[in-house]
Amino acid sequence: MFDPEVRAIEPDLITWRRYLHEHPEVSFEETQTTLWILARLREIGVESIDRPTETGLIAHIFGTKAGKSAVAALRADIDALPMQEENGLPYRSRNATAMHACGHDGHAAMLLALAKLLQENRESFCGEARLVFQHAEELPPGGAIELVRAGALDGAEAVLGLHLSSNFETGIFALKEGVLTSNVDRFTVTITGRGGHCAFPEQCADPLLAASEIVIALQSIVSRRIPANEPAVVSVCEFHAGTAYNIIPNEAVLNASVRSFGESTRQLIEREARNISESVAKAHGCVARLEWFSGYPSVVNDEKLASEAERVIATRFGAAQMQQIGVVMPGEDFSYMLENRPGFFVELGTRNAVKKTDAPHHNPRYRLDEDALLYGVQYQYDFARALLDGTRKFWEEQA
Ligand code: NI
Repeated sequence: MFDPEVRAIEPDLITWRRYLHEHPEVSFEETQTTLWILARLREIGVESIDRPTETGLIAHIFGTKAGKSAVAALRADIDALPMQEENGLPYRSRNATAMHACGHDGHAAMLLALAKLLQENRESFCGEARLVFQHAEELPPGGAIELVRAGALDGAEAVLGLHLSSNFETGIFALKEGVLTSNVDRFTVTITGRGGHCAFPEQCADPLLAASEIVIALQSIVSRRIPANEPAVVSVCEFHAGTAYNIIPNEAVLNASVRSFGESTRQLIEREARNISESVAKAHGCVARLEWFSGYPSVVNDEKLASEAERVIATRFGAAQMQQIGVVMPGEDFSYMLENRPGFFVELGTRNAVKKTDAPHHNPRYRLDEDALLYGVQYQYDFARALLDGTRKFWEEQA
């Protein structure tokens, strides 16, 4: 099932993962993690390494196979979470205020193992494998957008990402083409009127009444502006106004949450929410100001790369190792890379009830089944070599 050279890398893979697990650093503070990965890459013999951002780094490995070259980027996030580990493992976190509770230690170790495999087997691919060790996935605005802006994906034909997941059994690849995760956004509407005595409403502009109509009108976005087969949520969850029973207030403030899929729906909701708020407020002699706060956008998988992923996994592990899934809710900043380049993001199961690796992510007792890691390495190794096989068959078919 595994190539002999992949099987042979498992001891390093486990050692690296456990080292990272013991030494977690939170988002934007991955200084030692970055230096440690840099030292391992140097040991492996990787010569071309960029550090365009404060933390995080990029390794460029060039194949020597003859043919038409391409550039494939592979990304792993490297940050931990600000929480205390409650596992009694011998390699538990040594840092009381940080823990790898989302599997990013596994992601980074797998990408290092891939670096070693590619470096030692340069004759097996043509072009460039670009390994992106990304900082700060857990803290918006996140590290991905920073790396993209620094040119991390320039010239790359595709970008691949992987997330370990305790929602699936060890070694199961959970796939979906197209939209995988929702946009996670919110907005605040501040409605300003003219306050005054409750008995003289004609002298006032009542922001509370305007805000009430805005709350109701906002519900028409999902029901009347978005196609019925397009899932979206607009929820007004806070309404603040007034200080006394006999004073018409000057101001009312609404806070709302938005979930949507894909960029066009997201933009439509922002536009309509602004239009409704401003127009309804104006009808009441008030002024509304809407502030939009974007979280991570949707992860949208390229369809051709999704079917190539299926082929790669089925060829290596058999179709039984694959599971088609629906949309998932947690945000993921790999989406910024997918806005920049076609790519594919897969989830790989680490759940094993006997080994007690079934706790949810971000839980102080989160653990991952290390047996899953070799699946991830083999998959990335196979996918990288398929995209960089010297024929550019995939890209030319795509064109
Ligand atoms: Ni994560």
